[in-house]
Amino acid sequence: MTKVAIWCRHQDDNIIGIGEEIPWNVPSDAQKFVRMATGQNVVVGRKTYETLPGRTLPEARIFVLTSNPDYEVSDAQRHQVISSLKMFKDFEEDLYIAGGAKVYEQFFTTQPKLLPEIVVDCVYCGELNPQSKGEVADITACIDVMKEKYIRVTPEYEKDNVTTTIYIRRGEFIDQVVLKKLLSEIGV
Ligand SMILES: NC(=O)c1ccc[n+]([C@@H]2O[C@H](COP(=O)([O-])OP(=O)(O)OC[C@H]3O[C@@H](n4cnc5c(N)ncnc54)[C@H](OP(=O)(O)O)[C@@H]3O)[C@@H](O)[C@H]2O)c1
Repeated sequence: MTKVAIWCRHQDDNIIGIGEEIPWNVPSDAQKFVRMATGQNVVVGRKTYETLPGRTLPEARIFVLTSNPDYEVSDAQRHQVISSLKMFKDFEEDLYIAGGAKVYEQFFTTQPKLLPEIVVDCVYCGELNPQSKGEVADITACIDVMKEKYIRVTPEYEKDNVTTTIYIRRGEFIDQVVLKKLLSEIGV
């Protein structure tokens, strides 16, 4: 199985969210995320789950991380509440890690077995929405790990103020089918 982390971060400060929002609006980037996540196993924190339109993603099996065992998901057939990431240490299928910061951090900084094999690193280079209010979520800790343990395997692909680059973990066997799928979805 291949673990793929996907995020869009703001250049320099690595902010991915303020309050409940992503503090920019780039429809082509949001569409790219949906293309990659469609039909996949996706893991998100409870806060991110609540920001997904309709709390869903097309045909995806969503694992929602929360400490509330009674949490109600929007689609009981496809979405599942989980209380820890333990099951992903030996998960046998591909897994797409879709945030937020608390979730990315646990995959990148807690246990080697959770470290993703692939990162789709999208970087937004414009201004943050000045109206956004609330707690700032940033992923600097994950970027530090990415810089140390990963290598870039694509050029930077730029569209609508967002550059997208794929990184893979040094020394890991990477499933070429997954990599090719991601390359076609980001447009390289
Ligand atoms: N730009 C991007 O690519 C991107 C991607 C995703 C999200 N975002 C943004 O990121 C922000 C949300 O990120 P966040 O870090 O604040 O929240 P988050 O990671 O989405 O969710 C945090 C919640 O997940 C649950 N959780 C996390 N780890 C857990 C564990 N080990 N055991 C049990 N439950 C656990 C807890 O839920 P309970 O409180 O229910 O226990 C916790 O409050 C939003 O602004 C969102 O829009 C941006």
